[in-house]
Parts: sequence; C-alpha cells; structure tokens
Amino acid sequence: MAFSRISKLDPPSRGIFRRAAVMLCSLLTSLLLLHCLTERCGTSSPVKASSSRVEGHHNEDLGGSIRSKRLLYEWTAGSELTGYGASRRSSRVLADEQTPEQPEESFMLPPPDLVASRKVSPRFAGKLSPLGEGSKKLPQALIIGVKKGGTRALLEFLRVHPDIRAVGAEPHFFDRNYDNGLEWYRDLMPKTLEGQITMEKTPSYFVTREAPARISAMSRDTKLIVVVRDPVTRAISDYTQTLSKKPDIPSFESLTFKNRTTGLIDTSWSAVQIGIYAKHLDNWLQYFPMDQILFVSGERLISDPAGELGRVQDFLGLKRIITDKHFYFNQTKGFPCLKKAEGSSKPHCLGKTKGRTHPNIDPEVVQRLRDFYRPFNMKFYQMTGRFFGWDD
Ligand SMILES: *[C@@H]1O[C@H](CO)[C@@H](O)[C@H](O)[C@H]1NC(C)=O
Ligand SMILES: *[C@@H]1O[C@H](CO)[C@@H](O)[C@H](O)[C@H]1NC(C)=O
Repeated sequence: MAFSRISKLDPPSRGIFRRAAVMLCSLLTSLLLLHCLTERCGTSSPVKASSSRVEGHHNEDLGGSIRSKRLLYEWTAGSELTGYGASRRSSRVLADEQTPEQPEESFMLPPPDLVASRKVSPRFAGKLSPLGEGSKKLPQALIIGVKKGGTRALLEFLRVHPDIRAVGAEPHFFDRNYDNGLEWYRDLMPKTLEGQITMEKTPSYFVTREAPARISAMSRDTKLIVVVRDPVTRAISDYTQTLSKKPDIPSFESLTFKNRTTGLIDTSWSAVQIGIYAKHLDNWLQYFPMDQILFVSGERLISDPAGELGRVQDFLGLKRIITDKHFYFNQTKGFPCLKKAEGSSKPHCLGKTKGRTHPNIDPEVVQRLRDFYRPFNMKFYQMTGRFFGWDD
C-alpha cells in the first residue's frame, strides 16, 4: 500500500524514498547479522551450560551435594593435563568448545569474565573455533543403574574420553519425565560432533518397569550400561544415604524385615528390591539382547578403574584412551581419583558424600540378607556370564 502511494509521488520525494529504503535495508541486514551472532553465542555459552548443570543437579538421586559436584568438577578437570599430552589437547580444542559442560574445559576455556566478554565480540571467538557447530543428539548409550552402584564415578571417569559427551545431571526422562517428549530430552543433551557419543546416567531406569520399552522405542540400538555392586553393601549404602537426609527413619534392621522373628525379608523396601538384579534384568531382556547390555562391577571400578574403563570403552566401540595413567588411589578415602592437574596442588577425588562410612549393621541381619540374595546373585551371574564374587 505504501509503495503504490509513493510511486505516484514526484521525483524529489522518490529520492527521499530511495534513501529511506537503503537505510531500512541496511538496518534489517545488521539486525539479522546481530541476531545470528548473538544466537550462536548464546547457545554455546559455557556460563549458561554450567549453570544449567548445577540446576539439574538437584534432581540427582545420589546424595552428592552441589559441593561434591564442584569437587568432581575440579577433580575431573585435572585429568586432561597428566593423561594425554599437548598434541592430544590441541586436537581437543574444537570439541571442547562445543561442549561447555565438559569438566576438562576449565583448562581449555578462558575464565568466566573472559567468557562473558566473548559475547561482546563474538566474531573474534568465532575465529578460535567453530562455535555453534555440532548438534544435540539423543543418547546412543545410557548408564541405567544401579543406584549406589558407582554410576557417578563411572560417568565422571568416562567424561575424560574425548569422544564422549554426557549430561552432568540425571535427566530421569524414562521414568519421571517421559511425558515431556523426546524433543525435550534431546534438548538436554550437549552438542556433539560426528563420531562423538552422547550419554546420560539415571540409575533408577534399571528398576523402572516401563524403561526398557521406552528406551527401545527411542532406539533399539541404544547401548546400556549397568554398574552393579554387592546387593548387601548396596542396600546398606542406600540406607546410609537416606539416613543422612532423614536422620529419624527406622533402623536398617527393622526396615529389612517384615517380621524379624520369622526372618521374612521385606522385598517391597526399595533398598532391598533394587538389589534383586536378576529380576530386573529379566525385564530388560524382553526388549534388548544381552550383548547390548554391559555390566560393570562396582567393586572393580574402585579396585581397578582402568580395567573396567577398558571394558566400557570397548563396549562403546571407542579407542582405549582412558588408562591406568589417569588414576591414582587415595588410601585414606579408599577411592580411586583422577590425577591432579599440573600446577595444581589439590587432588581431584570424588566428593565427600562418596565413600561414606556405613553404620554398623547387626551381622546376623547382614548374614540373613546374604542368604536372601544368594540365589538371585547366582542367577544373575548365569545370565550375564560374569562372576561378580559377591558370595564366597
Ligand atoms: C511375627 O511372626 C511371629 C511368628 O509367626 C508372630 O507370632 C508375630 O505375630 C509376627 N509379628 C508381626 C508383627 O507380624
Ligand atoms: C585422600 O583423601 C583424603 C580424605 O578425603 C584427603 O584428605 C586427602 O587430601 C586425599 N589425598 C590425596 C593424595 O588425594
């Protein structure tokens, strides 16, 4: 309408119109440019990603506090420099720019104040690396359990691998948040480049009845990892964690039994129920073949982290990059730690909530639980073809 009116005007005002049109065009162009730049900058802002990491952390089932997460962050950050050399590192800069939630990046990226200034001069940052490249993909591999098995340790060890990108918090998609849909889920994932594996861990999946069907519906090729641990120590650890949050819950002994006199065990108590691995595994085998599920020994993950990580890397089809060079054992804590960074005086171990000392449980109750689990354990060894050595 405005155009037709203007076209009827005399030559001098047409000149004004032309000038106005040019100005409008350049304004639109710069707006478009600005939009592109800020969007790119926004989606790959490390500050943004790390804050969402802390946010998501509240969901976590494991007892780790934000402080423990921060320790983990520092702890994994140390791995890079001692683990593989500078040549490796330079090849990683590209990948690290894509995935700000990756702990090691504290070595790769400038401190937060510099990160913030990157927003001011995005073009400069763009020259350093292909910001905004890569895409969010649904996970190809999941750590599905078990609670108190060592899933946090496994995930943090795995994050050392340059070809693994993982969500820090537990998304709980296939149990609590399934109604949000796959796009919601995909959006939680870090950006990955071709060849990188997207992962997440939510230990409750293993005991969620609907999880196998739902994961299979996402992709039948999803690789599943389960960290398992002696069900008796797992139950005690589970109870210990709950006790630390709610100090006035009944004793472990009274929760274990339906009737202490008869020695009948309360299998509906989740601390007991989670450890009946053979039963839960049956449910998964309705949807996934055995060779798509890897069982990691929670005990070996502590006594021989590099050995277990070797198996996991093989299972994921990755080069064995995480090796014994990455670990040292903290005798005091009884836990493996990733090696400290060069120039840092602090070791990088799991947070304080990991490796809590357990309350003393009546040995009779422990024995009763051992007897209870034994047949289920035997069945589990048979199903998995691996002897975990919980009953000897
Ligand atoms: C426990 O079992 C004993 C022996 O069968 C029975 O006498 C008692 O009433 C039971 N206690 C409870 C709380 O069910
Ligand atoms: C080992 O763990 C203890 C207890 O958490 C801690 O005080 C100590 O600094 C750690 N030492 C090393 C070398 O990691």
